[in-house]
Amino acid sequence: MTSKIKKNQLNMVMPQDSPVHNWYRFVLSFPPHLVRDYLAKLGADEHSVVLDPFCGTGTTLVECKKLGIRSCGWEANAMAHFASTTKTSWQCDPDHFIAHCQQVAEEALDMTARSGISLYGDTPLFGDFRGGTMLRDLTEEQWQVLSRGFISPLPLHRTLILLETMRGYQANPYRGYQELALAKALVSRIGNVAFGPEIGATPPKSDIDVVSIWLSECKNIAHDLEIVQKLPYHPDSSVIRGDSRSTQSHAKLFDIVITSPPYPNEKDYTRTTRLESVILGFITNRSDLRALKQGLLRSNTRNVYTVDDDQKWIEGVESVQTLARQIEERRIELGKTSGFERLYHRVVELYFGGMARHLIELKKTLKPGAQLAYVVGDQMSYFRIPIRTGTILADIAERVGYKVESIDLFRTRLATVTKEWIREEVVVLSSSA
Ligand SMILES: C[S@@+](CC[C@H](N)C(=O)[O-])C[C@H]1O[C@@H](n2cnc3c(N)ncnc32)[C@H](O)[C@@H]1O
Repeated sequence: MTSKIKKNQLNMVMPQDSPVHNWYRFVLSFPPHLVRDYLAKLGADEHSVVLDPFCGTGTTLVECKKLGIRSCGWEANAMAHFASTTKTSWQCDPDHFIAHCQQVAEEALDMTARSGISLYGDTPLFGDFRGGTMLRDLTEEQWQVLSRGFISPLPLHRTLILLETMRGYQANPYRGYQELALAKALVSRIGNVAFGPEIGATPPKSDIDVVSIWLSECKNIAHDLEIVQKLPYHPDSSVIRGDSRSTQSHAKLFDIVITSPPYPNEKDYTRTTRLESVILGFITNRSDLRALKQGLLRSNTRNVYTVDDDQKWIEGVESVQTLARQIEERRIELGKTSGFERLYHRVVELYFGGMARHLIELKKTLKPGAQLAYVVGDQMSYFRIPIRTGTILADIAERVGYKVESIDLFRTRLATVTKEWIREEVVVLSSSA
């Protein structure tokens, strides 16, 4: 499938693809060229409607839009939903947008100066603001869901003033782009975070030029808008916030599905998006966070609840039950007793049960003969027992009435824990004609 792409480019957003995709992206999301390859393989054309039911930051949707193909995304995480929505909204005058951003920047700098903080780079900063009452801060409830190490006091103060300034405009038509630019700036430079692919804290920053960093992200957006607005077609794309395990629609709308659901490992998408979700107000306290987690496919021990019952969708599926049994037996053998370790086998059952439920529900929305591509990775996160995600998913899909067309190798990845190479595959399915 990816023969024209060199091996070391498999994971990359290539320079010619970067417009719009790079506005805000999950680390290691599948790259735009993979979407293009599968649109071609699955026979997409200008009459097709493509669905990504786990659309994340919108790689499938943006690529479809660039190619003139209608698309729809479903996404349960509010921050990712916002990113996809903004990345597929291309109607905005780039010059007016930038003029407005410059105005916001000037006002924010002015307000920052009035708050008693000098411009970035003007020394000396007077006083020690750390822990002081002069700085804008998040609420205690917000700090309960965000690690204090993820952003330092002065950068946070500057960020909150900038956000307040852009939100101060009634009916600001550029608000989506401006806030997405801030989200990107927060995770790339303002905050103290790095991805590898999990999120981790980096050393604190005494200060940083928040407004300039944000403005340069806004300029990138304006530049990209100029490029994509010249494309000859402007197909519709829509993004629905919802749980792909419950039906989002009963209309038979979709010809093609290209997607990458979470994998059964310990990656917590609410944590990788936490800094920007809290600052932009998508999560304001613990109960918001819990509600968010409950709407997600169970793929890690931090989002498993006693009431969960998705395992009932894979009763009798031997491949999953054997795997869950092996994991639990290994735990006992190793004498591992932590609360998280006790949940490993349950995550696996809930994950594949949730995927079975999703595939059953999805059928209601597929046109006869629809073609589907699911990008999934094998895992070894639970006591190093191999989880052949693609093979098991294909087995489940077949049981719930899909035809398995192929399981293609997309790329191999070095597992952080075991240092073994594991496969990431594309499971290609078709629904009955
Ligand atoms: C592997 S990521 C997708 C990345 C995507 N291809 C992109 O371009 O960013 C999986 C996404 O599925 C979302 N998700 C998890 N459970 C979901 C559910 N039940 N319904 C809808 N989306 C869900 C996560 O929030 C995450 O954004």
